[in-house]
Amino acid sequence: MTNWIRIFTFVAISLCSDAWYCQKNIDIDDLLNSLTIEEKVGQMTQINLDVICEGSIYNLVEPHHIEPSKLRTAIEQWHVGSILNCGGHAYTADHWEKIITPIHKTVDEVAQNTGRPKLPILYGIDAIHGANYILGSVLFPQPLAQAATFDVAQVKRCAEITAVETRAAGIPWNFSPVLDVGRNPLWSRFFETYGEDTYLCAQMGSACIEGYQGKYNSDGLIDKTHVAACMKHFLGYSAARTGKDRTPAIISDIELREIYLPSFQSAIASGAMSVMINSGEINGIPVHANPVILTQLLRKELQFEGVAVTDWEDVSKLHQIHRVSSDMKNSVLLAVQAGIDLCMVPNDFEFARYLLELVREGKISMDRINESVRRLLTMKKKLGLFDDAILKYKTNFQQVGCQEHRQAALETARKCITLLKNDAHTLPIKGNEKILITGPAANSTVLLNGAWSRTWQGVDTTYEDQQQNTILTAFQKVGRDNVSHYPIHSTTASFTPTMLLTNELERCNVVIICLGENPSTEKPGDIDALTISQGQIDLVKYCSNKGKKIILVLIENRPQIIHDIVPLCDAVLMAYQPGTMGADAIYDVLTGKVSPSGRLPFTYPAHEHTLLTYDHKYSEALDTKFGFEAYKPEWPFGYGLGYSPIAYGKMKTNAANFSGNAITKIVIPLTNEGRQEQEEVVLLYTRDHVASVTPSVRKLKAFQRISLKPGETKEVIFQLTKKDFEFVGTNGAWVFEAGTFDLIIGDQKEEIQWID
Ligand code: BGC
Repeated sequence: MTNWIRIFTFVAISLCSDAWYCQKNIDIDDLLNSLTIEEKVGQMTQINLDVICEGSIYNLVEPHHIEPSKLRTAIEQWHVGSILNCGGHAYTADHWEKIITPIHKTVDEVAQNTGRPKLPILYGIDAIHGANYILGSVLFPQPLAQAATFDVAQVKRCAEITAVETRAAGIPWNFSPVLDVGRNPLWSRFFETYGEDTYLCAQMGSACIEGYQGKYNSDGLIDKTHVAACMKHFLGYSAARTGKDRTPAIISDIELREIYLPSFQSAIASGAMSVMINSGEINGIPVHANPVILTQLLRKELQFEGVAVTDWEDVSKLHQIHRVSSDMKNSVLLAVQAGIDLCMVPNDFEFARYLLELVREGKISMDRINESVRRLLTMKKKLGLFDDAILKYKTNFQQVGCQEHRQAALETARKCITLLKNDAHTLPIKGNEKILITGPAANSTVLLNGAWSRTWQGVDTTYEDQQQNTILTAFQKVGRDNVSHYPIHSTTASFTPTMLLTNELERCNVVIICLGENPSTEKPGDIDALTISQGQIDLVKYCSNKGKKIILVLIENRPQIIHDIVPLCDAVLMAYQPGTMGADAIYDVLTGKVSPSGRLPFTYPAHEHTLLTYDHKYSEALDTKFGFEAYKPEWPFGYGLGYSPIAYGKMKTNAANFSGNAITKIVIPLTNEGRQEQEEVVLLYTRDHVASVTPSVRKLKAFQRISLKPGETKEVIFQLTKKDFEFVGTNGAWVFEAGTFDLIIGDQKEEIQWID
């Protein structure tokens, strides 16, 4: 080739590839039709970052760097469609750019050199409570804590900021939110849920998705301050019988549709762009191999058009763990036929290799492949990746962890903290009190942040944020000289009293005991018992025996059982895992700058073997003639106190009988009778008197958070329609049955009739 021909060819290819990818109006069907089978199966393949970095898998060279030859193999030879990172640790946004930019540049170069269409890489990450893999980002309270705010606008704001900070690293796809309903606190991922109530999960999940994705612009694109959401894990992941991660669930059709499905339905209605599949099995069938769930329900019934990604190694687990398949090739067949679009392989190219063989052998049709690749390319288009994957679609580094974002994290943490007990106005702490702060969560940022914080399990202190306060330093920084500290370093060690502790106790009149649970998630987070460790119980008992006023602050992944020590405490504050600004918020609440207003998004159990949810059945709440009452939680769902007393006036409804399209309007006046501004969460429940499927004792139907100044009265108005009185019938469909219903707010109850 002469130089002229070379130059001509290069310009032609550049123009041609420009025409392919430098347009937001790219025609996905034209692009799809031009792809080879190899390119298509490659698009359905997602690999872990480790595969293209220097070093070996799970043992990368530090600091992590892309190895160009590995990257080229992944893109040129295997045409991989997506990369994720997992298992590693947080980088600065600047370092992230060094990882992401070569990926996109290599895609461009390969397209130009080969004359093939550009197929941008979709990079995905778990940013579940802030951009947790970016150093210096704000870490919001974990989702469970966010749910305790009962404030959808606040949850949306957290998601918006997470999106901006994630995009600052050039990453456009977030594997969040978890829409699994947290019915069992034994489950290690309980803290990742929005709690035990279906309606609450649906509301919070949708708000989060709207925050992540924003609105499409006039070109039908998500802008550079937003990311694609991934609702997960479809379906029934949290229902494992044993409470252990990824173990079998047995779920009836009624329960599946009434409890576990609505949060996903609502997320689809909110435009969620992708979904991740449940790693476990339901009723004996692994979900990754179940076409009834992945195609019949998700695609045909729910009309979901986005991308379905597998969870980690879940195709190979079909033969390695679940044993519904004998080898990888058959597992690929099962999963693709069931309906997955993208396989989180993640550490080799086996999926692509077998998928190619299966297509060539005619065992998987081109139509099936095209369906998935079309969804993937459409998602990439909507994210603007064909246009300019890195530069145009990246926000500014400066925004990571900026003051405005930290303030939003502080406000969220303040709103989630839930006061569970406050005898004799122990809280707020009076200015002259001599305070001892102790307990394993007193001086730890790791416990405040929880898992998915800088690393997967969140326990590595190497990546701690130097600016972040612990509960102790939050007190010390404001210069309170009446505060001392007795260090306890372990949440699990047994407790041995020392002279030092005895002396410290002598000097104080209030002890703030910060109890906790080590961060953990997924399999490493499986537990044997829900009761808090004996060492922590003994610590509280010892301090109590010394006659001190005890304030318990709980920093935990879930409600650990503390039944024996609750009577020894004067005040109990549930702070969940409140994130980077959590300690500051705890300080504000303990000292009365802010009145607590969070409400439990779960039932706080009192006993190991009574893990009932608030919406249990009548039979579960019955008193037997032996005087045993089954439903006796430590604190009920929705519980939470404030410092200012709020008086609930008489609840009124607009009528007693309703039919057809009528609206049940409920009005209740609330008055702040205290001396401090108070935010109040008002919860509205319904109770069906008689139904053909055993009704729950109550169901949450609506909630509102309002703010009341001292002396102020406001009316809270709720509106319900006939739909709100439906339930899932024996045929698996939502049905309405006329009859009597209670409307319940606080301790008030109003009976109404729905006639037809
Ligand atoms: C988890 C997912 C997560 C994925 C990628 C899996 O082990 O179950 O929730 O998104 O890893 O990190």
